[in-house]
Amino acid sequence: MPPRRWHHGPKPARALITGAARGLGASVAAVLCGENVEVWLADRDGHQLEVTAAELRRRGGRCHIMAIDLEDVDACHRRFAALEQESGGIDLVLANAAVTGRRASMGPLECPWPIARQIMTVNVAGVAATLWPFVEPMTARGHGRLAAMSSLSGDYPNPRTPAYGASKAAVGYLLQSMDIALRQRGVLATAIYPGFVATPGTAEIEDALPMMVHQEAAARRIVAALRRGRRVVRFPRRLFWMLRMVRTMPTPIYDRVTRSLTIRG
Ligand SMILES: NC(=O)c1ccc[n+]([C@@H]2O[C@H](COP(=O)([O-])OP(=O)(O)OC[C@H]3O[C@@H](n4cnc5c(N)ncnc54)[C@H](OP(=O)(O)O)[C@@H]3O)[C@@H](O)[C@H]2O)c1
Repeated sequence: MPPRRWHHGPKPARALITGAARGLGASVAAVLCGENVEVWLADRDGHQLEVTAAELRRRGGRCHIMAIDLEDVDACHRRFAALEQESGGIDLVLANAAVTGRRASMGPLECPWPIARQIMTVNVAGVAATLWPFVEPMTARGHGRLAAMSSLSGDYPNPRTPAYGASKAAVGYLLQSMDIALRQRGVLATAIYPGFVATPGTAEIEDALPMMVHQEAAARRIVAALRRGRRVVRFPRRLFWMLRMVRTMPTPIYDRVTRSLTIRG
């Protein structure tokens, strides 16, 4: 297959992906390795990182691992700044790691403060700490791509996911604002809003999750959006449009519909 074109700038040579030991991060890493991008996989679980990296290398991918804990945001910021220096320059960053699954699906009465704090720290400050070290070097080079995982849930207040949804709304805002600020300097930022994707994170959730997308298909969709230099990508489209329709309902009806869809018992 001929190499696919990257729009609005050169094809990235080196990428950093957080939360890449499993789930969507690992699948995006596989797609990028398949395009001969050198990838740094960062995550908490060193053993799972080794397993994922070994599989990518077996398939011919060039990758490295970094064990990090995004709860320590300052230490991660320093590690990523050092990576920028040591690697020769990272030109694609995907801030993908997040607290997901069961911990992310608790209402305000069930969610203990340490979990709410962890969600806000990892999913918001952790994303900022991942992107920030690369903003200046990319701008100085005149090209680069910053991306992060928001979620369709970030656009639709939901009584089951107050902290997670708020964190994803913040990520969407952050990336879109960065794109407005940096695009004219050659640095593109992409906010990615998936619906439900079948990953180890969603496997922890017992509720029915409609219009579930396969992990590899979602990863291809994400890389295609990065390749095109999109500011925003939302998928699957059908779920996006359905939720958008629900959002236009008067508040009492929105509340009733949302409660009936999300609160058990
Ligand atoms: N899957 C979906 O339906 C869906 C929908 C919308 C948006 N998203 C977003 O897409 C991204 C990937 O989702 P996913 O379903 O693939 O998630 P996942 O299977 O839970 O994978 C997330 C990865 O992030 C890591 N992580 C969590 N906390 C961390 C920390 N403090 N430091 C470093 N790494 C940490 C996890 O490690 P541990 O296993 O050690 O926690 C895990 O390896 C997330 O940002 C998620 O919010 C997913």
